[in-house]
Amino acid sequence: MTLLPGLAELTLDPTHRPEATPAPSLAELTVEPVHCRPELLDACADLINEQWPRSRASRLHSLGQSSDSFPLCLMLLSPHPAPGHAPVVVGHARLSRVLDRPQSLFVETVVVARALRGRGFGRRLMEGLEVFAQARGFRRLHLSTRDQLPFYAHLGYQLGEPVQGLVFTSPRVPAALLRVFSSAPCPRLPCRAPSLAAHAAPKASKGPSLPPPPPLPESLAASPPAPAGPPPQSPLETGYRDLRGGPVFWMEKDI
Ligand SMILES: CC(C)(COP(=O)(O)OP(=O)(O)OC[C@H]1O[C@@H](n2cnc3c(N)ncnc32)[C@H](O)[C@@H]1OP(=O)(O)O)[C@@H](O)C(=O)NCCC(=O)NCCS
Repeated sequence: MTLLPGLAELTLDPTHRPEATPAPSLAELTVEPVHCRPELLDACADLINEQWPRSRASRLHSLGQSSDSFPLCLMLLSPHPAPGHAPVVVGHARLSRVLDRPQSLFVETVVVARALRGRGFGRRLMEGLEVFAQARGFRRLHLSTRDQLPFYAHLGYQLGEPVQGLVFTSPRVPAALLRVFSSAPCPRLPCRAPSLAAHAAPKASKGPSLPPPPPLPESLAASPPAPAGPPPQSPLETGYRDLRGGPVFWMEKDI
């Protein structure tokens, strides 16, 4: 299997010769927060905009909000084939804290470079973010999807309830709330790239030694019980709608 066309499209070097470029290796991938690699901000913005076009300034602003306190943008990186060059950004996902659920993270803006899809990079991205979240004490991931239910189901996600990801940059969020959430989850891990050479950490390794994530404020830590009724979604249809009124499936996975 060759990945040459994919890498060629990602490389902006005009002297680049596709036929001489080694393929990105799954064994050498790493996952790193974008705020630990500011030199890759532009490449990351381009990758996301390739799928969901938006102004570059707006995309860079959004990526610039990434921090250890969440929301946090993770990049899937492949070493550049030429020594001494910055790694190639091959994937991205954004993680946010979840209202009412202190041990959960909301996953969104999951994307793999168009030319590299269907070759295992999406799985590595999702496995890498699971390891990343586990290492910070989180126990469940949530997401919503319009058309990628089969991909997430294949990776172990099940249909779940809607959740509210917390976007702290919104001016509508009161300052008091911002302060409560400004502390970093425990433990505060340094910007270090976990290698994905091996598969995601086995379940046994998540052990009891990890401290739980920081608590949510009391007012955000419990919701009223959901009203009884028929399940609003099945793998084939959903009663949930996104902000534009389109059908959306809610999914979750224990990690
Ligand atoms: C969704 C996306 C991230 C998947 O990435 P990818 O690199 O193509 O996925 P992979 O090749 O790693 O696939 C991983 C596994 O899922 C399986 N899979 C992928 N798509 C699938 C589908 N539609 N149905 C069933 N299985 C699927 C693959 O067969 C593979 O299985 P395996 O690892 O057991 O062999 C990528 O297609 C993408 O960026 N799409 C556009 C953006 C998008 O829609 N994002 C999701 C928003 S909710």
